[in-house]
Amino acid sequence: MSFETLLTERRDRVAIITLNRPQALNALNSTVMRELRQLLGELEADAGIGAVVLTGSEKAFAAGADIKEMQSLDFVDAYTGGFIGGWDEVAGFRKPIIAAVSGFALGGGCELAMMCDFIIASKTAKFGQPEITLGIIPGMGGSQRLTRAVGKAKAMDLCLTGRMMDAVEAESAGLVARLVEPERLLDEAVEAATKIAAFSLPSVLMAKEAVNRAFEQTLTEGLRSERRLFHALFATEDQKEGMAAFVEKRKPVFRNR
Ligand code: HXC
Repeated sequence: MSFETLLTERRDRVAIITLNRPQALNALNSTVMRELRQLLGELEADAGIGAVVLTGSEKAFAAGADIKEMQSLDFVDAYTGGFIGGWDEVAGFRKPIIAAVSGFALGGGCELAMMCDFIIASKTAKFGQPEITLGIIPGMGGSQRLTRAVGKAKAMDLCLTGRMMDAVEAESAGLVARLVEPERLLDEAVEAATKIAAFSLPSVLMAKEAVNRAFEQTLTEGLRSERRLFHALFATEDQKEGMAAFVEKRKPVFRNR
């Protein structure tokens, strides 16, 4: 399958998706959104894929939603057409997806990275929500996910001033899970994805679901749903295999059942 704005590669059970609009610093236009949704739909249904890495170029993960495409939009078209609503499907991808970020992750680019399960960043990465400089505000989750990730003080600072945060600040603020040298970025992300993809898929999906619920439910409801998912995993063959392997001092062979 070939795409206009994406490059794809498989390494064993890991799919690598590279945003590929170099002429626009990977600005996210409607073609990127459509192609990414289509590709993720296929990867979600593909039993041979256990995890995904989403990356961009050395200079830019993505410099935001495509300003040239948005420029002439009016309210009625944006509202009735559900402009950018399709990105919700990317956020709803059920398998683990790691953002490997180098260079600019601005506006929608920062928001796309935050839709992923965690961010591994190169020391060159720069994050920001500069929408305010264009007379708008974040629209793909920035005001919500950034605030949950880094807290009100920094989220307000970034959303109101439009300033960029460098990779060190982003890591210490809790936005970035791992910070690596630029040349290590993709390998680090693929190694993490490979490790995840080797675990039992039902437990991986449930771990993702359980952590995500922490952002949507009260503590009591979240703890209850975690307990239900935890109990459910004792119905899997892989739980028996995982624990038997531990007791027998061997490596487990998970069958994703
Ligand atoms: C469209 C973009 C773009 C964008 C860069 N380009 N960002 N095109 N949409 N978001 C294009 C430029 O127009 C230029 O093409 C080419 O990419 C290279 O960019 P330069 O500006 O020449 O590069 P540089 O001087 O290195 O500056 C890099 C930059 C700057 C600091 C990242 O490009 C920049 O400020 N970009 C906009 C960042 C931004 O405001 N993002 C938020 C967008 S709003 P041409 O052909 O002109 O040379 C948003 C809202 C999301 O994301 C909410 C939901 C929609």
